[in-house]
Amino acid sequence: MFQTSDVSDQAPSGEADPAFRDDVLACFRSSRRAIPARWLYDMAGSELFEAITDLPEYYPTRTETALLKQYCGEVAAHGGAGRAVVEFGSGSSVKTPHLLRAIQGEHYVPIDISGDFLRESAASLAADFPALQVHPLEGDFMHPLQLPDEIADVPKLGFFPGSTIGNMVARTSLDLLRSMRETLGEGAMLLIGMDRIKSPDILIPAYDDAQGVTAEFNLNLLRRINRELDGDIPVERFRHVARWNDSYARIEMHLEALEDVAFEVLGERFSMTRGETIHTENSHKYGARDARLLLRSGGWTTCAEWTDPDDWFALILAEAKPFQRAP
Ligand code: AVJ
Repeated sequence: MFQTSDVSDQAPSGEADPAFRDDVLACFRSSRRAIPARWLYDMAGSELFEAITDLPEYYPTRTETALLKQYCGEVAAHGGAGRAVVEFGSGSSVKTPHLLRAIQGEHYVPIDISGDFLRESAASLAADFPALQVHPLEGDFMHPLQLPDEIADVPKLGFFPGSTIGNMVARTSLDLLRSMRETLGEGAMLLIGMDRIKSPDILIPAYDDAQGVTAEFNLNLLRRINRELDGDIPVERFRHVARWNDSYARIEMHLEALEDVAFEVLGERFSMTRGETIHTENSHKYGARDARLLLRSGGWTTCAEWTDPDDWFALILAEAKPFQRAP
C-alpha cells in the first residue's frame, strides 16, 4: 500500500513513530483538526483497505484492473515495449503482472517505503517472471531518487496506479510529478491511474459503503492512536463521514464527534465538541482536461488515455518531453 508505515505496528507506547506522534498532537492542539492520510495505513488499516477494494460500491480498483488487462498491449505499442518498469509505491504489486507481461522488459524497480512489502512482492514476482531482474528500492518516492546503475541506459516507464495521486492536494501532486520526472529522466514515460469527477451519488457510497468497511477503516485511526500513543479516545462516540467537496473536486473523509468528548493522548488532555470533525483523507478526482493540465504542469505530456465505458476511471500514458522554452 502507498506509504504504509507498519514499522510501528503494535509498538508499545513510547516507541511509536515520532512523526505519527507529532502529527496527532499537532492535530489536537490546533483548531484545524486534520491528520495526514498516510497514518490510516497501519497493518489493520491496510487490510481494511484491501477489503474496500472488493466492495460492490468501490469501483476504482476493479475498473482500473480491467483497463490494465485490456490496454497494456497498447501501452507497449505506444512506446512502452521493452522499458524498465519503475513502480512508485509498489505496495503488494498486485496490478503489476499485467503490465510486465505486456511490456516484456528485462528490469523492474519497485519503490516503497516499506521494505517488508518490497521483499514480499519481489519474491512473488520472481516466481512468475524468472527472467526479470528486480531491483527493489526502499525509499520515499515523494523526493527524487537515484535509480539502480543497471538501468542507467534503459528507457524507463514509471507506473503509478490506484489513483494514489488523488490523496494529494494540488501542490503536493505537482511536486510529486516533477520529482518523478527527475527520477526517471527526460524521454521517460509514465502510466498513471486517475479517478474521474462523477456524480456524488456514485462517489459518496464508494467512500461510505453499506457494510461499513470504510467506516471501520477510518475509525481504525482512532484505535491506532489509542494503541500506539496511549490514548483513551472513546471511538464509539465518533462516526465516519464522507463528503464531496465540490470546489476542490474531492471526497473528504472525516471523523465526527457525536457528542462533546474529552480524552487523553500521551498524557495530554484534549476535547472536542459535538459535530466537530477530524479531517483524515482526501481523494481528489480529475476531469479529462484537469488530468492533462496537471500532468503537463509537472512536465508530462499525455500521449494516450483509456477509460471505461462510463468514463469513471482513466489510465493515462504520458511522456517526459524536453522542455520547450518558446511557443
Ligand atoms: C488509496 C487513496 C486510492 O482515495 O480511493 C478508499 C483510499 N479511502 N476508500 C481512494 C480510500 C477510502 C483510496 N486511495
